[in-house]
Amino acid sequence: MFGMMTGRERDTARRVGRYFETHSRRYDELYGERHSPVQRLVNRLLHRVIQERFDLTFARCGPLGGKRVLDIGCGSGRYAVRFAQEGAAEVVAIDLSPRMLELAEARARAAGVADRCRFERADFARAAFRGPFDIITAIGLFDYVAEPEPLLVKMRGLSRGRAFASFPMRWQVRALIRRLSFLPSGCPIYFYDRRDVARLWADAGFGRWEVVALDRDYFVLADADGGFD
Ligand SMILES: C[S@@+](CC[C@H](N)C(=O)[O-])C[C@H]1O[C@@H](n2cnc3c(N)ncnc32)[C@H](O)[C@@H]1O
Repeated sequence: MFGMMTGRERDTARRVGRYFETHSRRYDELYGERHSPVQRLVNRLLHRVIQERFDLTFARCGPLGGKRVLDIGCGSGRYAVRFAQEGAAEVVAIDLSPRMLELAEARARAAGVADRCRFERADFARAAFRGPFDIITAIGLFDYVAEPEPLLVKMRGLSRGRAFASFPMRWQVRALIRRLSFLPSGCPIYFYDRRDVARLWADAGFGRWEVVALDRDYFVLADADGGFD
């Protein structure tokens, strides 16, 4: 099933990759530690979810010592590097955008964890992996995925532990603003309601999953076998 990619999926991946080539640094700066107090305030108002989902992932991922991690749509490597810093034995991190991957590699080198991180340019829908993984993250990924069902099923097939993913909420003024702001770039963006998210996870076959409403995203914590704390 995974070898068969529709034209829509291929076109989406091409346009998303192109978008993040030109927006990689701007995205990374949303984490904002180098900003002025005013910029930090703006980020907190408009992009609070970026920090919220990061904090929630690390609050709920459990001990990382010796774990294998797959970070899908790793961007500038914020999650991948933190996983390695917290003791993960191996972090496989993929992204469509070479510029994002350059930022991620530089971050891993600066943190002294490059030997445990492998960054690869790949489309998750097409790439093959040597599973299973103890932790799988897909944060900020499903905003840019035309057909999420096969990706979640693939995540389940690679998982022997926890999985974390975010889905931007559909019925918000901010969703409309975001959709309009993406129009000139040609980068597609997708939104979800709670029912979509619940159906996707029910169909993917995780033993247990939980949806948490954050500022503008549904955040899902899942466990392959149903064990959770
Ligand atoms: C909003 S960024 C999130 C980066 C990171 N996960 C974070 O939260 O800091 C989304 C990233 O997903 C990547 N991406 C989108 N679709 C992808 C796909 N099908 N396969 C791999 N990466 C993808 C984009 O290139 C982009 O860098």
